[in-house]
Amino acid sequence: MSILKIAKMGHPVLFKKADPVSKLPDQNVKKIINDMSETMIDAEGLGLAAPQVHISKQILMFRNPDLMDKEQKSIEITVLINPKILNYSKETEDDWEGCLSIPGMHGLVRRSSKISYEGSDMNGNIIKNNAEGMLARIIQHEFDHLLGVVYTSRLADPRAFGFDNEIKQFWQK
Ligand code: NI
Repeated sequence: MSILKIAKMGHPVLFKKADPVSKLPDQNVKKIINDMSETMIDAEGLGLAAPQVHISKQILMFRNPDLMDKEQKSIEITVLINPKILNYSKETEDDWEGCLSIPGMHGLVRRSSKISYEGSDMNGNIIKNNAEGMLARIIQHEFDHLLGVVYTSRLADPRAFGFDNEIKQFWQK
């Protein structure tokens, strides 16, 4: 396993639509997933999409934020390959997001409160599930990366974006 270099805002790979994975299971895809997991844990991210490590394929992963505060003896990571969001709720929520490709900054982003999604796991089994709250937000954020979209194009208010210190001081009081 190895820690991969993370593409930062401005790199064209972040604005490209990712290609679907054509064959599962696949040794190369398994290796990408292992390396992505190690990279995400090292960077303390809640989610990661393959384009963020310069691999333009439809692979994303996330941790369940509800388990984050508890003792982290093991970290549970969900992988979704060729994911689709089947339904976005009309009801939305605004909350602060960061991104490993935009370090040191946060933005207030409007997302659907609930989604249903599906995708394949790394063995090619179909996963179908619903998510709400923070988990729904993370999945929508990572799914956007596969479309070549970063959260800065989904701000709830164009002023509610900036460096962590300023956001803390002026917005998160
Ligand atoms: Ni991101």
